[in-house]
Amino acid sequence: MIRKVRVALDDRAYDILVGGGLLARAGEFIEPLLRRPFAVIVTDENVADRHLGTLKRALAQKNIGCEAVILPAGESQKSYAGFEQLCEALLALKVERRDHLIALGGGVIGDLVGFAASVLRRGMDFIQVPTSLLAQVDSSVGGKTAINSRQGKNLIGAFHQPRLVLADVDLLDTLPPRELRAGYAEVVKYGLLGDADFYAWLEANGARLLAGDAQLRAEAVERCCAHKARIVAADEREEGERALLNLGHTFGHALEAETGYSQRLLHGEGVAVGMALAFRLSASLGLCDASLAPRIERHLEAVGLPARLRDVDGAERFSPAVLLDHMKQDKKVRDGKLVFILAEAIGRAVQRNDVSPRAVEELLSEQLTKTAA
Ligand code: GLY
Repeated sequence: MIRKVRVALDDRAYDILVGGGLLARAGEFIEPLLRRPFAVIVTDENVADRHLGTLKRALAQKNIGCEAVILPAGESQKSYAGFEQLCEALLALKVERRDHLIALGGGVIGDLVGFAASVLRRGMDFIQVPTSLLAQVDSSVGGKTAINSRQGKNLIGAFHQPRLVLADVDLLDTLPPRELRAGYAEVVKYGLLGDADFYAWLEANGARLLAGDAQLRAEAVERCCAHKARIVAADEREEGERALLNLGHTFGHALEAETGYSQRLLHGEGVAVGMALAFRLSASLGLCDASLAPRIERHLEAVGLPARLRDVDGAERFSPAVLLDHMKQDKKVRDGKLVFILAEAIGRAVQRNDVSPRAVEELLSEQLTKTAA
């Protein structure tokens, strides 16, 4: 069964297809979009080993010619150097403005290829074939593309929507369990920010979903994509509601920066800790009930995710002031003020720009004291 979600953006509207076995049928879905029977697949070394052959065969079945650019794996590719390497490789292949690029990979490949597509020959089309849970439920949808700067993550980029997203949930079977769990944090995010029923569904089904139940995975990916599609259609450029998708990210990005964007803390793990902290901050400001953060921490821990500051490698050496300083590079900063995504309840996130840095520092100090104790 193929589940279809439409991102309703007028003449840039596109479908997200969710289900099993989609990669082997990719030619069928991609062919109607192409202006000539040719596309360039961009992927990384790890994903190429597992999935590139299947995608090439699927294109060949529909007589679509292709070239592949295979990049080293890892976040370091989202750099000026990685971006230059990709653009030069694509231009050397003589890609034309009307050609399509296919991003086959996780969030790094999707962000990098999307950004290259936004500027190469002044703008090309691209298709997302996300291979990680994080990319299937979040980064492949909505057109945010970027590379990193020395000043922080994703600071150089563009909004550039894909023409199609193919989320084949069978590809999740080959993910390392830690990466799968990290992606699951983004799934939890949708429940916490706007869908209390979905959050309760995850409490009941999350462990089985992570253990490999394909139906539950497809249902979760579809529900997350439908949620995100609705938000993106209403607020493509993050003037308002789209910012809610950053629940947990202000804290999470600060923790990622402090741990050097390394294996010490994966992005989704930072988001997990960050979401629990956002609920703790919300409770300390009187916005929500104090029982919610412990409930969320219990679920995150039950599925094997870090949920508290003390779970982060090296937390005993963190300084609240330094973490706060990292937050000041957040893309949501407006007029020099930090913007936080907080919550009034599970499923009711709100954006606030009136949180005093002191309240944040106090929360971090309190949580770090518990770490040291
Ligand atoms: N990842 C958040 C967004 O796409 O807006």
